[in-house]
Amino acid sequence: MDRIVVQGGTRLTGEVAVSGSKNSTLALMAAALLADSETVLQNVPKLRDTDGMLDILRALGATAEWVESEKSTVRIDASTVSNPEAPYDLVRKMRASFLVMGPLLARFGTARVSEPGGCAIGVRPVDQHLKGFEALGGKVRLDHGYVEATSAGRLLGARVAFDINTVNGTQNVMMAATLARGETVLENAAREPEVVELAHVLIKMGADISGAGSDRIVVRGVEDLRGVKHQVAGDRIEAGTLLAAGIITQGDVRITGVDTSTLESTLDKLRDVGAELEVGSTWVRAVAAGRPRAVRVVTAPFPGYPTDMQAQLMALLSVAEGSSVVTEHVFENRFMHVPELQRLGADIALSGRSAHLRGVPRLMGAPVMATDLRASAGLIVAALAADGDTTVNRVYHIDRGYERIEEKLGGLGARIWREG
Ligand code: UD1
Repeated sequence: MDRIVVQGGTRLTGEVAVSGSKNSTLALMAAALLADSETVLQNVPKLRDTDGMLDILRALGATAEWVESEKSTVRIDASTVSNPEAPYDLVRKMRASFLVMGPLLARFGTARVSEPGGCAIGVRPVDQHLKGFEALGGKVRLDHGYVEATSAGRLLGARVAFDINTVNGTQNVMMAATLARGETVLENAAREPEVVELAHVLIKMGADISGAGSDRIVVRGVEDLRGVKHQVAGDRIEAGTLLAAGIITQGDVRITGVDTSTLESTLDKLRDVGAELEVGSTWVRAVAAGRPRAVRVVTAPFPGYPTDMQAQLMALLSVAEGSSVVTEHVFENRFMHVPELQRLGADIALSGRSAHLRGVPRLMGAPVMATDLRASAGLIVAALAADGDTTVNRVYHIDRGYERIEEKLGGLGARIWREG
């Protein structure tokens, strides 16, 4: 099984382009199921998760493939979907595959999707997705590990008030509502940029949606949707990860290809830890000298500090001057990187939803285990500042969400390589 080896201690310098957003892509691929003509997505990152979603679309009967002649482009034609069932073997690998449920139910009046798997970061139910489908008139039942939803004819517009803030839940129900009869109002909707991008693409496809980016989204159902061409936005989490990597090595890095208005809370925290930032509309340069400063951070739904950037910030804070507190408010049990950071010499104590860190001057390389996608990114960031070699095992987690991470960090001067 592949490992990534990092020889810490090199100062990162230079420029790197971020890839397209994984999370946006997954939702947009699911949205292609709503159209009866071809959708083309550009700037798609080549990842285990994006390949996994293409597998699911094919299992449903769609044509879904990388375009050979064009870099980072996929084409999806869902006019041939014949089997609205997403099987366990494919769905268990990635929680976001549950996003096919809303589009299938809306377009075919029936969907059968295995209950999802994905990162083991706490209990991650889909009750809010199901609540939305039921409000729209779907009949939902659980059947031997599958969620089955049916509707006699079109779904019917309704008011859906989410009990909690859910990104994929908002996206799933928003997609279901596009082809419903009448108006749907989503209250307490997630405001993440990936919800906004999905709404934007659905509108291009012919949907009638307003309010995306606020906590109240209104969807007026239309007869049908058509395929479109769209360039996926840059990945704001990859951008933050690469900046953290530069900063922990006291380097000077410039990242390009991301809408920096989606990065504000991340950039604020990186400034708080002492980095000097220059920010353009699509690029950020971060220069750091000396050890990071200790900070307090609480993860929260957008526009708060993203939970997907928690492990990487924790890596930075593990070598900060002073004591920091990191509180995880989005997921339970998203501290699986802590024992691994401790193996590198980090001084971290967990208490409920908070981690208390006392910064140490140096980390030490060690073999560690990637436990989930963002945890593994945190370990790589930490390893860049550790003395000696760190071997990160189970890198398939990182391959789920980071495209050519070793090449990108290598291009900035990191000593990092993959071993088979
Ligand atoms: C998405 C992102 C993920 C990110 C997360 C939070 C994708 C593919 N993934 O995940 O990278 O970490 O947003 O920004 O876009 N919950 C329920 N019931 C539900 C749905 C969610 O209780 O029906 C809970 C979850 O367990 C979690 C919280 O709500 O505690 C937020 O989860 P949610 O926003 O739904 O995360 P995802 O959309 O799965």
